[in-house]
Amino acid sequence: MRRVILIGFMGAGKSTLGKKIASRMGIPFIDSDLEIETHFQKSIGDIFTENGESFFRTLETEYIEALDLRDNFVLATGGGMPCFGRNMELLNSIGTTFYLNRSPKELVHRLYHSKTSRPLIAGLDEEELLPFIENRLALREEYYKKSSVILSRDEQTPDVIENFTELLLHPLQKN
Ligand code: S3P
Repeated sequence: MRRVILIGFMGAGKSTLGKKIASRMGIPFIDSDLEIETHFQKSIGDIFTENGESFFRTLETEYIEALDLRDNFVLATGGGMPCFGRNMELLNSIGTTFYLNRSPKELVHRLYHSKTSRPLIAGLDEEELLPFIENRLALREEYYKKSSVILSRDEQTPDVIENFTELLLHPLQKN
């Protein structure tokens, strides 16, 4: 059983890298935001606006609990998922967690052109984005750093992640 869980701030590259790892390892790629959107037939933006952020966070916890029924996957988590309630502990109990560490400046660069679909940053202009990310990341790192593996930018490759996954096969991943 292979369960690879990618964690990191918005814009860290979880989905892009996740797809590459999944195709390399021959297991399904899943994206928690996309699956929640499909299940509710609503975009994350609409869930935030119509139901509120705390409702979305409840959905994320329920989503993690249901994951335990699946055997093999590479999961790209939403950026805030590990930072609420017991989510980080739950994620660590299910699979091997990897934190894709990126600096606030890199994140600004990567996020600026794709910020419209992300409700937490949609209203921010370029000058507001850096302080927002610095503050939010400082609060979130406490959770992100509980990952099994913390990867620097150069280590964020399918190769490195596949090797770590084999090395650190989770106690619950029996076969
Ligand atoms: C969020 C990150 C988003 C999405 C939602 C909230 C966050 O996912 O779950 O907009 O709190 O950081 P990505 O990290 O895939 O952008």
